[in-house]
Amino acid sequence: MQVVSISSLKGGVGKTSVTLGLASAALAAGTRTLVVDLDPHADATTGLGVRAQSGTDIGHMLKNARRTDPVANVVPSGWIRRRRQNGGRPPVLDVAKGSAYTAIYDRPDLGKRDLRRLSTLLSRIENYDLVLVDCPPSLNGLTRMAWTASNRVLLVAEPALFSVAGTERTMRAIEVFSNEFAPALAPAGIVANRVRSSSNEHTYRLEEMRTMFGDLLLSPTVGEQANWQQIQGAAHAIHHWPGESARNAAGVFDQLLDGLISSGQVRDRVRR
Ligand SMILES: Nc1ncnc2c1ncn2[C@@H]1O[C@H](COP(=O)(O)OP(=O)(O)OP(=O)(O)O)[C@@H](O)[C@H]1O
Ligand SMILES: [Mg+2]
Repeated sequence: MQVVSISSLKGGVGKTSVTLGLASAALAAGTRTLVVDLDPHADATTGLGVRAQSGTDIGHMLKNARRTDPVANVVPSGWIRRRRQNGGRPPVLDVAKGSAYTAIYDRPDLGKRDLRRLSTLLSRIENYDLVLVDCPPSLNGLTRMAWTASNRVLLVAEPALFSVAGTERTMRAIEVFSNEFAPALAPAGIVANRVRSSSNEHTYRLEEMRTMFGDLLLSPTVGEQANWQQIQGAAHAIHHWPGESARNAAGVFDQLLDGLISSGQVRDRVRR
């Protein structure tokens, strides 16, 4: 089981959108996937079409990490209900629901015991190929808890000045954190999001990122998608949305997911 944190120190760069795009690709590919929504704003939970009433949220699961049965408390994404109506074998896309309660752990001084809460929960989960953890935009307790439980960190960045600088800081933070707390943790790469191929600034910043990060800058990049908010607002998977632009974006996430899974498998083989 690969556990991947989707992170950035900077807010609003597209962590949740990339999480949703990868979840959509995983659902299309039949990859059994759990999305853990660690952001107290719970945007991923909303985008995945989860009903507020069902299941226990991840904040309360973390609070009782040793006693909670995570399997009994995750809920299926609303995307599944839409798929099931079309018949066929039911795929697996579950959600550990986000909630404002999670914020009690988003402190800069979270101790080692608290940092292990998500690892403790995930250690009792077996029936997924992939776990995607949508992180809040900070390096406080929640992101550090996610990194403690993860094999890899996928960074998201926009091709813009401050975002590139933020990505470099995050890379350094991963290195420092893995040296201290999680020797097996590695970067999975950087997804450049909201790329406009017609923008000279974006072309320049992408080139700069290629020079700074080499192969860690993943290909393909994710373009600016005019109807992304409409798709997310309707709580739809991008793979289920009609039209050519959604189909192209879905194809980009298929490729990113393929790369993520195969690089994870290569890494596992090398480590064994
Ligand atoms: N490729 C894209 N094309 C168009 N709009 C996008 C794209 N990626 C993200 N957005 C939009 O930008 C906004 C911020 O994206 P998102 O919520 O995914 O970022 P985030 O990094 O998760 O934010 P936060 O730090 O607040 O958690 C959203 O309204 C989203 O729909
Ligand atoms: Mg988000």
